[in-house]
Amino acid sequence: MARRPSPPDDESATPAFSRRSFLKTAGVGAAATTVVGVAANGQGAPVVLGPDAVTLSLKVNGAAQPVTVEPRVTLLDALRNHLDLTGAKQVCDRGGCGGCTVLLDGLPVKSCMMLAVDAEGHEITTVEGLGTPEKMSPVQQAFVEKDALQCGFCTPGFVVAATAFLAKNPDPTLDQIKHGLSGNLCRCGTYGRIFEAVQSAAKAKRG
Ligand code: FES
Ligand code: FES
Repeated sequence: MARRPSPPDDESATPAFSRRSFLKTAGVGAAATTVVGVAANGQGAPVVLGPDAVTLSLKVNGAAQPVTVEPRVTLLDALRNHLDLTGAKQVCDRGGCGGCTVLLDGLPVKSCMMLAVDAEGHEITTVEGLGTPEKMSPVQQAFVEKDALQCGFCTPGFVVAATAFLAKNPDPTLDQIKHGLSGNLCRCGTYGRIFEAVQSAAKAKRG
């Protein structure tokens, strides 16, 4: 059987950021160290942060917010535990439920699956940034009017995901709504009203 060739021992012959150099670098600070990138031309040492806390500037809901966190901290934990923005919920903490959904440059992301350091330089929008109790966004308004919640734990994630979905598809069919929100789970099973609320918000947005 043909053997796979061994990796070269001479690291100068390999790209600056090889798997081996990554493992060496990561080993310096064990799990608490985060490698955040390499030079754009692929040359030079990887940029390493941590294991101590670093101060980031996160642009959240239109305002730059300084936050000092260890590089291992997720965007969700930075928002909830350091910036007191508790709308995004920690439910599964593994990317499976959508309860932690926020917008990153207008696109929905599961903030439990992203490091805060990787969110620096991007526009982050949480459910708190979509509207206020006095001036709700069309999606927030529709969730209230259609009573699209029971315990409400999944609701911020659905509202944020639906906002991003309607921005892309302003006149969706019911099937498109179901598909578009399939990354969000509601353990109370309130799907019927949630979909109704999204249809209603789409109608309101179109005028
Ligand atoms: S808490 Fe992030 S996807 Fe479930
Ligand atoms: S309303 Fe309870 S999880 Fe959705």
